[in-house]
Amino acid sequence: MICLGIEGTAEKTGVGIVDGDGNILAMTGNQLFPEEGGIHPRMAAEHHAEWIPKLIPQAIEESGLSYEDIDMISFSQGPGLGPGLRIVATSARSLALSLKKPIIGVNHCIAHVEVGKLDTGAVNPVSLYVSGGNSQVIAHESGRYRIFGETLDIAIGNCLDHFGRETGLGHPGGPVIEKLSKQGSYIDLPYVVKGMDFSFSGLLSAALREAKKGTPIEDICFSLQETAFSMLVEVTERALSHTQKDEVMLCGGVAANSRLREMLNTMSEEHGAKFYMPEMKLCGDNGVMIAWLGLLMFREFGSMDLSQTGIIQKFR
Ligand code: KG4
Repeated sequence: MICLGIEGTAEKTGVGIVDGDGNILAMTGNQLFPEEGGIHPRMAAEHHAEWIPKLIPQAIEESGLSYEDIDMISFSQGPGLGPGLRIVATSARSLALSLKKPIIGVNHCIAHVEVGKLDTGAVNPVSLYVSGGNSQVIAHESGRYRIFGETLDIAIGNCLDHFGRETGLGHPGGPVIEKLSKQGSYIDLPYVVKGMDFSFSGLLSAALREAKKGTPIEDICFSLQETAFSMLVEVTERALSHTQKDEVMLCGGVAANSRLREMLNTMSEEHGAKFYMPEMKLCGDNGVMIAWLGLLMFREFGSMDLSQTGIIQKFR
């Protein structure tokens, strides 16, 4: 069984081809870099509309296969930016119709977890999935995936990127903040964990206030990281205790941060749990994770009705 997957929940367009044993046969992608500001949903959709028709033939060529060899199509059905999701769903549906192949829409967040398991060999981890658009603690428990904790407002990556843009550090802010944080020392910022959820918007406002006051940027970057990451690690730790699992996995673009990895690794060790992180190219958004979850779901549930693939039908 060979699956072609299309990703396009945010600003990255990706196509992946995977076989039934989890071998990656092709991985193509392209990212929108906005000239200023954050990601505009309409611009992201236009980017997908431009790039999906280029990335599919590139992936076919990279795999050495022909279109007839593709057994099924999968696509990122959500969560994500609405206009882009419609382009992805329509592209996947057109391809499935023209190739006369089954189609399946998959959850983007679960795709991050499943490709992480494929890459690392983790069997049933508590996962911290942190990116520009999502921040969730996810685990498979009692027969299904459950979200144990998540952001009440913005994602951690969005918080870092917003801070970076407003303070002139550029976009994306995450990597620059990590670099500057190495020379910083601690100042107090709001730590918000409510039940099993966390919140970053108050922390962002407080960090921006400090910047306006003239507090050294290195100190704010250090404290922003320490505070936000402690919140994420606390909720992951509580989910680990609750589920009694013995594996922890970090995934999503913010997994690139070495301080977050260090903190999560230390917490995992303290609980006797093994810490995993997929290789970085599979941590960010990509088509391979969509193809792999498509295969797994097809095996379990079969394909979906073509009339279910459009966002409009879904919410009507
Ligand atoms: O998963 P991802 O590639 O895609 C989106 O969600 O769009 O994640 C991108 C996010 C951005 O917010 C970026 O600032 C963050 O990952 N990021 C980092 C680092 N490298 C990328 N955050 C903290 N530290 C880093 N070194």
